[in-house]
Amino acid sequence: MNTVKNLQQLRAAISRARSEGKRIAFVPTMGNLHAGHVALIQHATERADFVVASIFVNPLQFGANEDLDSYPRTLVADQSKLLEAGCNLLFTPDAQEMYPQGMAQQTIVSVPGVSTGLCGGSRPGHFDGVATIVCKLLNMVQPDIALFGEKDFQQLAVIRKMVTDLNMQVQIFGVPIVRDHDGLALSSRNGYLSAQQRAAAPALQQCLQAVKAQIKNGRRDYAMLFEQFDTDLQAAGFRLDYVELRDALSLQPAEVDSTQLVLLAAAYLGSTRLIDNLIFDL
Ligand code: PAF
Repeated sequence: MNTVKNLQQLRAAISRARSEGKRIAFVPTMGNLHAGHVALIQHATERADFVVASIFVNPLQFGANEDLDSYPRTLVADQSKLLEAGCNLLFTPDAQEMYPQGMAQQTIVSVPGVSTGLCGGSRPGHFDGVATIVCKLLNMVQPDIALFGEKDFQQLAVIRKMVTDLNMQVQIFGVPIVRDHDGLALSSRNGYLSAQQRAAAPALQQCLQAVKAQIKNGRRDYAMLFEQFDTDLQAAGFRLDYVELRDALSLQPAEVDSTQLVLLAAAYLGSTRLIDNLIFDL
């Protein structure tokens, strides 16, 4: 696996793969890779002949009081995980490479509708930063397919809409959440948790499962279900950011006739913000 740092090297390596007739898959990441990222690479190897990953901690998608500076940078460990998973090329640009005129001068991609509410409500500007960097990376790599984790369900919806609206010639795949042995969704931010918080963290997934079971049993009094969810999460030490039931296809609030649903939540354990979701049919 080659690691390249600039656009010229990236384009040269991709041109070589293209000239050999290879189908190209792309997995953008911010590094600090875990089994969820490895699953993305493995899915990519099943659907393409040449797998490109990127590692770039994108300052444009972090708010002023967020964890940009403390976000873990673990390049050497990441490279060996990517190599083992079957990645062929790694792109590790720096901010100068991605934003040569500076972030203030960068053209911004803003995806209306799906970017608002949920994480977009709690993290203003976040999805503009995500859409902008993913658009730039897709233009740089020009892959046939790109893969994203379903843990960031709203991000996936934003990227799908951007690709459709901008007529980008790439097929987007969502890959199911990878969970730890106790149900906690894998996330680079799990590393911020103390031992005590880590022990409490699976409650987020358990409380979501409890709400899902009630909905499947016919309950439709969502306000009461979410109040109970908040109470149970607080008992486990969390502070709720949001919990919502949405239509999994449109990401609009669930309607009576919605059959594919997604239950999404974000909550804080101390200063660490965790997100999770459950996709289910009615
Ligand atoms: O999900 C992530 O890791 C990031 O939001 C992404 C898609 C790599 C864009 O920076």
